Amino acid sequence: MLKLKGSIKISGDKSISHRALIFASLSTGRVKISNLLESDDVMRTLNILKELGIKIVKKKTQWTVYGNGTGGYIQPSQVLDCGNSGTTSRLMMGAVSSNPINCTFIGDNSLSKRSMSRLSIFLEKMGAGIKLTKKDFLPLHIDGDINLIPMEHVMQKASAQVKSAIILAALNLKGKTRIIEKRNTRDHTERLMRYLKINFKKKILSKSSTSIELNGPYEIKPRDIIVAGDPSSAAFFIVGALIIPKSMITLKNIALNKSRIAFIDVLKKMGGKIKVKKTKTISGEDVGNVQVSYSLLNAIEVKASSSPYLIDEYPILSIAASQAKGVTVMKGLSELRHKESDRIKSITTNLSKIGFKVISKNDDISIKGSNELQVINRKKIKTYGDHRIAMSFAILSLLYKNKLIIDDESCISISYPDFKKHLKKLSTN
Ligand code: S3P
Repeated sequence: MLKLKGSIKISGDKSISHRALIFASLSTGRVKISNLLESDDVMRTLNILKELGIKIVKKKTQWTVYGNGTGGYIQPSQVLDCGNSGTTSRLMMGAVSSNPINCTFIGDNSLSKRSMSRLSIFLEKMGAGIKLTKKDFLPLHIDGDINLIPMEHVMQKASAQVKSAIILAALNLKGKTRIIEKRNTRDHTERLMRYLKINFKKKILSKSSTSIELNGPYEIKPRDIIVAGDPSSAAFFIVGALIIPKSMITLKNIALNKSRIAFIDVLKKMGGKIKVKKTKTISGEDVGNVQVSYSLLNAIEVKASSSPYLIDEYPILSIAASQAKGVTVMKGLSELRHKESDRIKSITTNLSKIGFKVISKNDDISIKGSNELQVINRKKIKTYGDHRIAMSFAILSLLYKNKLIIDDESCISISYPDFKKHLKKLSTN
């Protein structure tokens, strides 16, 4: 049987890549970015920045962005196409809103079904003019304004994208912006701001709540950025090595940001043999190597309070749960309905089709798994155009001698164009 062996360097992180490009565009001069993830989503942000007058060039593997400073975007002559990328749409809406320009944002079918009012309500309160389709969706039009009102925002829903968008808008505003997060989310934006020496205050209000205070406008001095490896991409191979007998792999250059590697703690609790070793800090992010070997997994309960830190890993955690002894319950997954697909549906439909007992009730999913290898017949997997569903089931298919046929693998390039190449490198018989 095929197993996973050896070591690879994981591609650049998607969230950090978007932010590296945007913050470079807001800097006052030339920024070199290394290890940028060249995925479809990130290229959407890059092309939109070009539309906004930012010069961006690639030489060999390095990208150079010639920043125009905060407030430096020019009127685009075309609509801004975000494709499938939620991060592009939210972050760029925030970034353009405090510039005196008018922008129309569009996206593909999936993105056009995702809520934009979750961000526009904040930008509108500040004074931006926003017209949404059916009050919530793309295409949308923003009338930006350099005189938006700096103010306090209270975020009830956990979203790193919304938080980051408000921060990006605030960088160009004269006065104090305060953002209170009722539930903490990923902190790549704050880390990159510290690395770029952007002065802001972050206060811990309680175990799960934080405030961020900015006092703009800011001048951001150019500083080169190296993008750390993507832990969410690494998660596919980590689970692959845990569930495929005789596997042992080392994944290098992974961002070890606590707000991103909660899935490793979950897998360790399930009995996963995983060793994490920090090697360095690059551009504000801790980075290191992760060693994984085949393990007999046991079911656990995953609490709702962890959901903002596991948000992109539930699909691959569901695959781990299917190979763990007992019933794994993952709670509080309402946000999964608002991702690239309704991931509660994508996970439950496909696992049920293979023959697993899966129940989704309210916002929880329970999966009855087994750590003894089952025999299955050929089954077609429906990705719903969702890259993380495609990669999760591609990993499960390795266990079943490729009997799971993924209906559309092209969506993998949204976040991990080198997935197949890296998988091939790790696979041995
Ligand atoms: C992201 C935040 C997360 C995540 C997405 C990327 C980001 O979304 O699902 O893939 O880069 O800020 P939320 O806005 O729901 O936190």
